[in-house]
Amino acid sequence: MNGIQDAVAIVTGASSGIGRAAAVRFAAEGASVVAADVGVEGGEETVATIEEAGGEATFVETDVSDADDVAAMVDEAVERYGGLDVAFNNAGIEGENDPTADQPADNWERVIDVNLKGVFLGMQAEIPAMLDDGGGAIINTSSIAGEVGFPGLSPYVASKHGVIGLTKTAALEYSGEGVRVNAICPGVIRTPMVDRSAEDDPEMIEQVSAATPIGRIGEPEEIGDAAVWLCSDDASFVTGEAMVIDGGYVSQ
Ligand code: NAI
Repeated sequence: MNGIQDAVAIVTGASSGIGRAAAVRFAAEGASVVAADVGVEGGEETVATIEEAGGEATFVETDVSDADDVAAMVDEAVERYGGLDVAFNNAGIEGENDPTADQPADNWERVIDVNLKGVFLGMQAEIPAMLDDGGGAIINTSSIAGEVGFPGLSPYVASKHGVIGLTKTAALEYSGEGVRVNAICPGVIRTPMVDRSAEDDPEMIEQVSAATPIGRIGEPEEIGDAAVWLCSDDASFVTGEAMVIDGGYVSQ
């Protein structure tokens, strides 16, 4: 894809699922990847996968809800690879499943801290580095839960609606300065996050597949590839967009 070869790309949540698939694809396209995550073992596996395929990556242990960690993540990209062109702010947690009135306050705080504040802190650190480096592209991971409600998941749904608002606002602020900002809204994707939900509800994947026009859930590569495309020059006129990638689920 145009513009990804030789780019410096940060991917958060790169130790697993969608983030790992995107990190692998960014590297396959020729980017140098900073793989950031709280999960050290998974992050090292992602880097090893990239290196075995001949790509370039480094792991940085990062809690995206911690401003110092996030600043250090961006510093690492700039110091190691000489700048920052692309950031995929993707780390997220699903949190507890309870009706709104029963949601524990600490679950609200944790989900908002990681999913929403994490994206905000990421953009605060990434945008100045991109402006110093002639511009760039940011993708923030929202969800179809950023478009519609899901019973039992009020903190998650609020966080993912918030990610779309942050994305549109940053796009208005920085697109004229050469930083495009977009969100992706995946449907149900086969990752460890969904495997955890399926443990409590074994028929979930089958039911979602049946309710999805394409007739199945998605694969992490189908989201990672879209994120890479949105960051590439092939998407040079796309900004402020929340791209739904869900096999048609929310179009019904
Ligand atoms: P996953 O659980 O496989 O991967 C999430 C990664 O984020 C993990 O490696 C985890 O260690 C990391 N992470 C969690 N908290 C962190 C923190 N504070 N700082 C840094 N890293 C942290 O999940 P998956 O499915 O790959 O999810 C990635 C993103 O996609 C999330 O934002 C999720 O909400 C979103 N999403 C996932 C969907 C799905 O069906 N799998 C659907 C829609 C959105």
